[in-house]
Amino acid sequence: MAKVSIIGAGNVGATCANAIAHMKFASEIVLLDIKEGVAEGKALDMMQTANLYQFNTKITGITNDYKATAKSDVVVITSGIPRKPGMTREELIGVNAGIVNGVVENVLKHSPKAILVIIANPMDTMTYLTLKKTGLPKNRIIGMGGILDSSRFMCYLSQALKAPASDIEGMVIGGHGDTTMIPLIRLAHYKGVPVKDLLSKKVCDKVVADTMVGGATLTKLLGTSAWYAPGAAGAVLVKSIILDEKKVFPCCVSLEGEYNQKDICIGVPAVIGKNGCEKIVKLKLDKEEQALFEKSAAAVRKTNNVLHEMNII
Ligand code: LAC
Repeated sequence: MAKVSIIGAGNVGATCANAIAHMKFASEIVLLDIKEGVAEGKALDMMQTANLYQFNTKITGITNDYKATAKSDVVVITSGIPRKPGMTREELIGVNAGIVNGVVENVLKHSPKAILVIIANPMDTMTYLTLKKTGLPKNRIIGMGGILDSSRFMCYLSQALKAPASDIEGMVIGGHGDTTMIPLIRLAHYKGVPVKDLLSKKVCDKVVADTMVGGATLTKLLGTSAWYAPGAAGAVLVKSIILDEKKVFPCCVSLEGEYNQKDICIGVPAVIGKNGCEKIVKLKLDKEEQALFEKSAAAVRKTNNVLHEMNII
């Protein structure tokens, strides 16, 4: 029976817990937060929907006591401050690096075998930080961003095509940043038909541009960062691990030569199963896409370097 802990009971963490409960694959979810009462309250609120949604998952909320997270199979880390309108994800690095560092240490004390899913921003750098600090095997540390960005990409494609999002396949690789992500429009398709054959270049360009600022658009509307799609994206990633589904998702994982990159965590398609990232899928990128990937990697690396400059790693 699977146990999932979620660190951070803010909007994203709580939505992720709720989505996992609705997906009915975990026996236990522990939601932990530093704010007294918040995790407890949200967990209890969710438990009061168990009959309504017919789930049997036990959801517990806890303030800062990591013992409750012991022996988790997967731990999702959402801790940190979210961005405010006009802020980039990268600007959160100073505060969030310290928070994520402490959280990961506490998590591993009680769940030394857990697979870690990183949602905290800047996500690529927080994933890299976790890899460097823990020295864990790279398969056990996975950043979620690409699943979220891909879901946004498929949402905008579905609107442009007037087709259900469930009939569309599309993938976003690269960094999880407004200027670093790469929606792979060439490979996107609607029931096997390339979307490029169905939409004009102008519309395709707009879908790509909207996808890239998908999170920022929401931040502007909401005054804080989004949560429904980020929480759900985290939940499908956890599900593929717990149920050993071997789904291919674009995830932020450590590259050691794949896509011509090393010493970096960045979004590429990966097979996700019970061992975490079980395999990196090598897409044949065209010249333009590979150039974009290299540019994206350079930007992620620049943010990673802040960790060195701040003596965090
Ligand atoms: C977003 C944040 C969670 O893209 O990174 O909405």
